[in-house]
Amino acid sequence: MNYQHLYHAGNFADVAKHAALVECLTALKRKDKAFFALDTHAGRAVYDLRSAQARKSGEAERGVLRLLERGANEPALANYFAAIGARAGTRLRRYPGSAALIAAALRPQDRAVLVEAVPAEARAAERAVRGTRRVRVETGDGYAALKSLLPPLERRGLVLIDPAYEAVEEWRTLLRAFTEGYRRWPTGLYLIWYPILDERQRRTALARLEALRIPKVLSAELAIHPDGGATGLVGSGLAIVNPPFGLEARLGEIYAAIHRHLAADDAGYAQVARLTGERMAQ
Ligand SMILES: C[S@@+](CC[C@H](N)C(=O)[O-])C[C@H]1O[C@@H](n2cnc3c(N)ncnc32)[C@H](O)[C@@H]1O
Repeated sequence: MNYQHLYHAGNFADVAKHAALVECLTALKRKDKAFFALDTHAGRAVYDLRSAQARKSGEAERGVLRLLERGANEPALANYFAAIGARAGTRLRRYPGSAALIAAALRPQDRAVLVEAVPAEARAAERAVRGTRRVRVETGDGYAALKSLLPPLERRGLVLIDPAYEAVEEWRTLLRAFTEGYRRWPTGLYLIWYPILDERQRRTALARLEALRIPKVLSAELAIHPDGGATGLVGSGLAIVNPPFGLEARLGEIYAAIHRHLAADDAGYAQVARLTGERMAQ
């Protein structure tokens, strides 16, 4: 595995993904009843934005740091900024990834499992969340966890599936594992991240998700480059299965705000819409 999230932490895709994750965690906490969270591709939990890798790529600079400079007072972003520990007028040094955001959101009754394949990253995550009760870090395959850990005893909660899409067969592996997880736990809230490289690949990604014939799926997409106008990532996509009430409108506002501040020359788009309806036709 060559992928190192340290180069990408805090980029616009992380911002889009984590803003949605924070909203979903907040929605789960509206009820006192315990919830369970599974992060299948957890990473190292906390990322040093002053590291050589982060400085070399400049992705956080053009992502979360720029957003904080330009959009610190956006009401739609207040929840996200609070969750990542950002304060207007101060420079963010450490960026909390999904694992840290999940660990920080837990109440005494909640529980989380964070799975990471690379031992050194898993150890870093372990160190970062040490002391947080009811969090377990597992070194291993996050896809296997969809089978072994679902359904959770709590019967409510979320699953984040956030692979690096390094492997040619990633989509196949992901869809197979997700289908198995969903079969075991159809009422869970799932967030599946996918990259947007160009319009053709985006359509293929959405067609793959639609072909699962699963109801109540939202697609939340944020592109900040023109189609074909960037080498690599043009946009960030999230398929959100069983979204909490009100998320579509709320994320629409959040993504519009991120787009306003991060898109170069107003390129790209922010779009949050239903991919499938309440029920699938037979
Ligand atoms: C995009 S990064 C995750 C970022 C993290 N979810 C966040 O939002 O902060 C993908 C991570 O998945 C790990 N990984 C790759 N294949 C995996 C697998 N099969 N199971 C678990 N982790 C895996 C990589 O080492 C990498 O740390």
